[in-house]
Order: sequence, then C-alpha cells, then structure tokens
Amino acid sequence: MIAPSLLSADFARLAEETARITGADWLHFDVMDAHFVPNLTFGLPVMQAVQAVSPVPLDCHLMIENPERWAPGYAEAGARNVTVHAEACADPRAVARDIRAAGALAGLAIKPGTPLEDYLDVLPDFDTLLVMSVEPGFGGQSFIADVLAKVRTARRLVDTGELTLIVEIDGGINADTIEQAAEAGVDMFVAGSAVYGADDPATAIAALQEQAAAAMQG
Ligand code: DX5
Ligand code: ZN
Repeated sequence: MIAPSLLSADFARLAEETARITGADWLHFDVMDAHFVPNLTFGLPVMQAVQAVSPVPLDCHLMIENPERWAPGYAEAGARNVTVHAEACADPRAVARDIRAAGALAGLAIKPGTPLEDYLDVLPDFDTLLVMSVEPGFGGQSFIADVLAKVRTARRLVDTGELTLIVEIDGGINADTIEQAAEAGVDMFVAGSAVYGADDPATAIAALQEQAAAAMQG
C-alpha cells in the first residue's frame, strides 16, 4: 500500500494535488511544529480542508511536541490513522487510547536512532508502527537502510501473532529503495518526492505498488 506525502505537493493547489493520487491507499499528512522538528508545515484547519476533498483516507503524522494535546483532534476530524512520535510522548498508551476513542487507528512513530525494543511493551495498544527511514523534518532526503532491521523485527512479531500492526515506513522511498523495504516486511510505504516529484503521480503510485508487490512475492 502506498501513502503519498502531501509535503511534496504544491501547497497553493492542495485540492488538485489530492485529485492526482486517487489510486493511492492513504494520503500522508505531515504535521510539523518547528519544535519537535526544525520545520513548520500545517495543522488541523488545513487537515480538515484536505480531508473534505481527499479521495483517500488521511494518515496524519504528527511531528510535534505535546501530541497528547493535539492528536485526538485529528481523529475527531476524520483521519483514518493518527501517528504520534514515541520520543515526544510521556505516556504513549494514553495517547493511543485517546486516538482510538476518537475513532481513528493509532500509530507510533520512531526516529531512525530510536530502538524498537524501548517500545515493544506499548505496541499492543497501537494499530500502526511508523519506522522513520530519514530524520523527520524534510522531504527529499536519502533512505537510511539500517532501519530495516526494525522493520524485520516488527514483521516477525506480527507474523507470529504477538502484535497486530500495520508496518509503515517513511522517508526516501522511491523506485531504488522500495524493494528492500518490501522484502523486509513493510505494509504501507510513504512516498513524497517519488510521487509528487514525478511527471504523473498516478503512474508513479502504480509503479511503486507493482514493485513492492513483486518484491514481496520474490
Ligand atoms: C519527513 C516526512 C515524510 C516526507 C517523506 O519528515 O515525515 O513523510 O514527506 O518525503 P520523501 O518521500 O521525499 O522522503
Ligand atoms: Zn511523514
């Protein structure tokens, strides 16, 4: 499954940009607060406007401090999935409970340097695990292949039934990197520049879906 990231879209044409990704599975919406990450994007009012016109469900990735305060609002607004950063949460399980109570799937994101082992005990309360394959903050960075060890571990725990999670990867996913991520066991691939930087986003999405499916079978 592919989730194009709106971060690489033309912000002056958000409605048209969502209409170009109808073949995607989720639309990835990167919220940054200039504190948790050194960049600032958009927040809840823009999410609500995009949600109203998006042909696919929204996947909100909150790169913000105090996610406990803001995450439920994105769920109430109709996001399919709301992901918070483990590094920003005092009590990840409480945030997951609030997101789920507000009607969305709850996601936990970990930065490239954050060990998965530190959060295994809270993952039963989450529906998605977002493994960051770049330092959060900017689109268009290079894929960090070392994080695939965490994907493999998560895949194994899901396949053995110890956890029930959608395993998602975010950062540097493109035609050169998606196969290794698929082989490691990713379910949901976020792709920003690889989709919105392409001449035709729909063709890019279809090509990535095909590549990932072939790599999983192989
Ligand atoms: C980075 C964001 C990503 C970003 C990915 O902090 O979380 O979602 O849009 O962009 P690409 O696919 O260009 O690396
Ligand atoms: Zn993201």
